[in-house]
Amino acid sequence: MLCLACLVLIPALLACQGLVPDPDTQTETETKQDEEKYTYLINIEPYLPFIDPEDQSQYLLLVNKEHPLGESYTPKDLAELECRTNGGKTLELNETAAKALYAMLAEMNADGITDVSVTSAYRTYAYQSWLFNYYTEQETASHPDWTQQQVKDYVLTYSAYPGTSEHQSGLCVDLWVDGMTDLVNYGAETSSPQDPGFAETFAYTWLKENAYRFGFILRYPEDKESVTGYSYESWHYRFVGRKAAAQIYQNGLTLEEYLAEPQ
Ligand code: DAL
Ligand code: ZN
Repeated sequence: MLCLACLVLIPALLACQGLVPDPDTQTETETKQDEEKYTYLINIEPYLPFIDPEDQSQYLLLVNKEHPLGESYTPKDLAELECRTNGGKTLELNETAAKALYAMLAEMNADGITDVSVTSAYRTYAYQSWLFNYYTEQETASHPDWTQQQVKDYVLTYSAYPGTSEHQSGLCVDLWVDGMTDLVNYGAETSSPQDPGFAETFAYTWLKENAYRFGFILRYPEDKESVTGYSYESWHYRFVGRKAAAQIYQNGLTLEEYLAEPQ
């Protein structure tokens, strides 16, 4: 009986004196320490105004099945990407997100990850329409026994219906690693929705832990399909600014969850 009391009381007393960390506080402390511990390999100063933009709210635009952009939406402040793109193609992105992306790619380079490029960034409504139709035709051919509705429902798990793609906002990118084209020519004319192996790369391991330091989040995480409406995409990164990205990352949230309850 006495021992039972000890088991309960001693940890409680120690916790009161701050000797045994409360699990919630501990997570917070570790997170803060981690922040303090991280030293950027590159000179981050010139990039900070972009990673931490003054008005972060404009980078929190929610685009999903319930929050479409519509046919006529064209983002402002697009800039042609001046970093490696898959196959050297010309791509555009929001100019602030682009600068934050350059910082992230430079940091990856400095950390020895030199095989990353961008395979998709801003997409027009027309291009998303083409893409969605392309996937629909491909799935129809692969599943001759499916109804058109079944095909559409399936395509909608990985490709946004025109007017509802986050790519139309100019705030996200699909990343690529050299050599993956040998597996599946994702992002090109012969696209495939399947993960071409990005989740198995060093780039992904790095991004998973560090993208938030540059204001980016993994937009469609594993096991969050019911919230985001899309299956896991290890290659799709969305710019939201560093403050929101850190909170989303540290609390394991999606953009939907963060916006429903901003921290
Ligand atoms: N693959 C993402 C969901 C898109 O089509 O925008
Ligand atoms: Zn994408």
